[in-house]
Amino acid sequence: MQLKNSDRRWGAVSKLLHWAVVILIAWIAWLGLTMVDMPPTPAKINAYALHKSLGLTLLALVALRLAWRLYAGAPEPVPGTPSWQERIATVTHWALYALMFAMPVSGWLFNSASGYPLQWFKQFNLPAIAGRSEDLAATAIQVHEYGFWLLLLLVLAHAGAAFYHHLFQGDDTLRRMLPSLRRDDPPARPDTEN
Ligand code: HEM
Repeated sequence: MQLKNSDRRWGAVSKLLHWAVVILIAWIAWLGLTMVDMPPTPAKINAYALHKSLGLTLLALVALRLAWRLYAGAPEPVPGTPSWQERIATVTHWALYALMFAMPVSGWLFNSASGYPLQWFKQFNLPAIAGRSEDLAATAIQVHEYGFWLLLLLVLAHAGAAFYHHLFQGDDTLRRMLPSLRRDDPPARPDTEN
């Protein structure tokens, strides 16, 4: 198993971080969408606390992922990818990174500006990152809400593009992001070698 990314494929660390973040975002989004309409019971308080703890975990994982990305680089686009697709993919990936940061940070800002406490899985308290302010709370929650719909849109486009490559182009774009136990890069297909 190769840890670092090569020119041809994603290494184990990038793959693990990619799919851990996918699962985390799906869980956080489901909690976020359902917790607001729950009746005011202890279950609602627990759902909010879990949403916040998972959001903080996401923030840490995304920071780690970005650091690894800057250190380990990324594979070249699969051979034959038109340059306009490359450009759209690059812009989408960096927009996804920006939103993956903006979501937890805007949530934390809203929490701080509203004067709510913040804990990570009941293990320790985190400080407020802003003073109490109704205006800031209103802006932060708007960023959090609209940011979510934008993130969803980009994720659908991003996943759609990955499946399009897999099903209609028949290339390795999706396959090389999937878990694999192979030790080395797969040999290039003779018709794709440049
Ligand atoms: C079913 C859902 C998803 C599929 C099938 C999928 C698939 C992929 C694939 C195949 C790549 C590699 C593209 C390449 O090699 O050029 C990739 C990269 C990436 N994915 Fe996803 N993805 C999914 C969900 C997500 C989600 C939810 C996020 C974050 C919100 C995300 C963020 C990213 C980012 C930022 C990259 C670029 C990595 C980098 O350049 O460092 N993906 N994804």
